[in-house]
Amino acid sequence: MTERSLFIVKPDAVKRNLVGEVIARFERKGFKIVKLKMFEFTKAQAEEFYSVHKDKPFFGELVSFISSGKVVAAVIEGNNAVATTRIMIGATKSFEAAPGSIRGDFGLGFTDNIIHASDSPESFEKEERVAFQ
Ligand code: CMP
Repeated sequence: MTERSLFIVKPDAVKRNLVGEVIARFERKGFKIVKLKMFEFTKAQAEEFYSVHKDKPFFGELVSFISSGKVVAAVIEGNNAVATTRIMIGATKSFEAAPGSIRGDFGLGFTDNIIHASDSPESFEKEERVAFQ
């Protein structure tokens, strides 16, 4: 089923010049890039983007990290986009992510874990609205 998802190349990966590597994986997999944007999250925008985590103890750290530098947001389209993208990015803790996944191949961090991707069609709609406003 053709659907859309969103990913954000996080500030750690942008600083390490991994933007092309990350986007290329989605293109090679067969997804179409339908929107692409480089920007810096404001604190308010980051709080809205990650509002599902607002009561978590790591919320402050998360907001400050994601707004600490440039990010690249992409909307992609293809078969089963939400679930397939989650498989491609790997486990949240990069140091536990399987080799072959994006986090597994490129990082060791947890907050600084290279990439974020929508975890449901509902999250996608909200995240696209915030990131591409
Ligand atoms: P992401 O997929 O962007 O979604 C929320 C982010 O919170 C997650 O990746 C991690 O980078 C970050 N994070 C930091 N600490 C935690 C934690 N204890 N549990 C889950 N996520 C965390």
